[in-house]
Amino acid sequence: MEKQNIDWENLGFGYIQTDKRYVSNYKDGTWDKGTLTSDANIVLNECAGVLQYAQTIFEGMKAYTTEDGRIVVFRPDLNASRMADSAKRLEMPVFPEERFVEAVVETVAANESFVPPYGSGATLYIRPYMFGSNPVIGVKPATEYQFRIFATPVGPYFKGGAKPLTIRVSDFDRAAPHGTGHIKAGLNYAMSLHAIVSAHEEGYDENMYLDAATRTKVEETGGANFLFVTKDNKVVTPKSDSILPSITRRSLLYVAKEYLGLEVEEREVYLDEVKDFAECGLCGTAAVISPVGKIVDHGKEICLPSGMEKMGPTTQKLYETLTGIQMGRIEAPEGWIKVIK
Ligand code: PLP
Ligand code: COI
Repeated sequence: MEKQNIDWENLGFGYIQTDKRYVSNYKDGTWDKGTLTSDANIVLNECAGVLQYAQTIFEGMKAYTTEDGRIVVFRPDLNASRMADSAKRLEMPVFPEERFVEAVVETVAANESFVPPYGSGATLYIRPYMFGSNPVIGVKPATEYQFRIFATPVGPYFKGGAKPLTIRVSDFDRAAPHGTGHIKAGLNYAMSLHAIVSAHEEGYDENMYLDAATRTKVEETGGANFLFVTKDNKVVTPKSDSILPSITRRSLLYVAKEYLGLEVEEREVYLDEVKDFAECGLCGTAAVISPVGKIVDHGKEICLPSGMEKMGPTTQKLYETLTGIQMGRIEAPEGWIKVIK
């Protein structure tokens, strides 16, 4: 299969329209059989539930070309199950999890020429999403929905690739206790836009959100979970009911323990203790593991000992092991890799 003529090495994290996307519609209590389409546009009624009350959820995962030339997707079953959780929380019908995985496979296979080559540093980002499509004017769930998946080739989420980031402690909250922070709802991202724009204006790469109730505990950023390394080389990640259960973070904890023999801890992390950590990273599908070099808390700088030039040594090992598993250089745990071809 001939690849697209794309400058893979210099791709940023942006949208490039690919050939095919998957669509299935929900009406009268059932999902139709679903199909691939070339049409990248959606026509909706002006009063569609998604447009009026933001009834929309999404997922994100990646397809990789492995060292031996296969195309694989990383743990799509976990995205399927997280999307089911998101749907239930927003009173949307669940798109059956097995069908979700099959639809991901179909979408990637149909866009094979857009899957970046091995070693290019780029990947195919896969974006499943679902939204309320029929007119809704009283505040209530829609009765008709559309589930879609598109794919787009992407490079690093943060410009500068593996260069350590500078982030700030945000004055805005991302998620309320007992709210929707633990699901992947579009509304969580809409309300983070002002915070990210103002962070960028002030020269920061991202926001560190604290828990909304006490503003003392580390939650996550707008698009990734935190991972810290202690001075005695323990991997620590914040535990909270209002952060997204990152598939990357869950995978990294397993890798830290089972592949690298490190101690891991998932627990509440106080902002006050961040100054004592040796390394900090942001982890997620888009972010992979992006190192953090500096955290600024209202003018007070917390400089991680790993510095502003490169990833800390444990972050680097985690990064290499995870990407090694994703790209087929390192044997994956059972069930982590879905082979497309
Ligand atoms: N946290 C937020 C708010 C996110 O949007 C994402 C991205 O999906 C993550 C964390 C990382 O999750 P995952 O590793 O499943 O991509
Ligand atoms: C992902 O990593 O898949 C995400 O959804 C993060 C998003 C902010 C790009």
